[in-house]
Amino acid sequence: MIKSPRGTRDLLPPDTALWNFVEATVRDVFRTYNFHEIRTPIFESTELFARGVGEETDIVSKEMFTWEDRGRAESDKGQSLTLRPENTAGVVRAYIEHKLWDRGLNKLFYIGPQFRRERPQKGRYRQFYQIGAEVLGPTTAGSESPARDAEILELLATLLDRVGITGWTLELNSVGCPADRAKFNEALRQALEPVAGKMCVDCQRRAVTNPLRVFDCKVPEDQPIIETLPRISQFLDDGCRTHFEQVKEILTAIGVPFTYNDRLVRGLDYYTRTAFEFTHGALGAQNAILGGGRYDGLAESLGSPQAAPGIGFAIGEDRLVLSLTATADSVICRPDAYIAPLGLGMNREAARLARELRRHDLVIELGDEAFKLKKSFEAADRIKSRYILIVGENEIKADSFALKHLASGEQQTVPRSELAAKLAQSR
Ligand code: HAM
Repeated sequence: MIKSPRGTRDLLPPDTALWNFVEATVRDVFRTYNFHEIRTPIFESTELFARGVGEETDIVSKEMFTWEDRGRAESDKGQSLTLRPENTAGVVRAYIEHKLWDRGLNKLFYIGPQFRRERPQKGRYRQFYQIGAEVLGPTTAGSESPARDAEILELLATLLDRVGITGWTLELNSVGCPADRAKFNEALRQALEPVAGKMCVDCQRRAVTNPLRVFDCKVPEDQPIIETLPRISQFLDDGCRTHFEQVKEILTAIGVPFTYNDRLVRGLDYYTRTAFEFTHGALGAQNAILGGGRYDGLAESLGSPQAAPGIGFAIGEDRLVLSLTATADSVICRPDAYIAPLGLGMNREAARLARELRRHDLVIELGDEAFKLKKSFEAADRIKSRYILIVGENEIKADSFALKHLASGEQQTVPRSELAAKLAQSR
């Protein structure tokens, strides 16, 4: 038997109803904040992620699905391609490629699959789904303002509320600007020098190549050492400090609760200033329901002719669905009626009636004249239809139909002209 590849899964009904409920709700929230949808390719040139996300990050150094294109055309040959591990780099690439600033398109959202070769566990998959948004634009558009950071965080609080997630925690930090981080990295390098030998091999490498990434380490034995390291907060310049204060002031004023976490550096290299994660207790070890932050230099590093400060986030949709208290049964749409054609030639009549009722937006399941009545009842029960509607010769002659409510067993005869209203009204 061929099974789905490790770390991937089939999303089946009724769960897909929950996913659709989440996506419809978030689309509606994005609409009221004037975000527009963007769909970028699910694979991009490998260089985009190496330059955007950073060579030394776990994502780029260990987790990408990368291959060399075997195309016949000269232009395809040997090109290194990668399934997108995240969507921010792709959105910024598209922003530059299509000069979206000229069209005033600077608030974009996306919903789609991402791919990382991680060790699968609850809430962690190799193909997973993100719902994300990015605000970016020329400095004249106010995209660097702390007001944008606070607005994005307020949007997230509203969005989680609307899908019915309670009990989340917003963890907030500032990772400063590149100059702050250079000083921080140097201080970390020095602090790590005498202790790195006692740490895991990844940390020993990070201590030399990109010390900040030591904070991504999950090895329990390394944590006491990491606890003693300097923190980015000690290295923020005045501009970054003020920016962060203003974000926190607005959040406090509008009542979005947050927890300051000065260990939070995020696992991607493009972040500047505000960085955040929302965590949720129901998730276990993989407790980050979403993550994001500001990335003021990313557009330029990907070749933008002008500065385009930005901020965004990505929600792990798989984890969002895992934290929902709503169940699939509460959002799934049950059939209103199962139409049971009774006797030869009745498929035609049943099809005619089904067509009529579906035009009234009713959910109809259609049976077969070859079924005995008992089999039709079993089928209606199995799909949890509310009613069974019998279409036999007598019914057609009388233009009235036997309609039976399956839970109560109550049966009545309803004229064709009243059927749709009757089914809709008793929902
Ligand atoms: P990230 O923190 O790498 O950020 O991913 C965001 C969220 O995606 C995580 O908090 C988690 O919920 C979900 N996620 C990540 N990996 C997996 C996985 N293997 N299985 C299931 N869910 C996963 C980013 O991707 C940034 N692009 C976010 C961003 C947008 N920053 C600025 N703009």
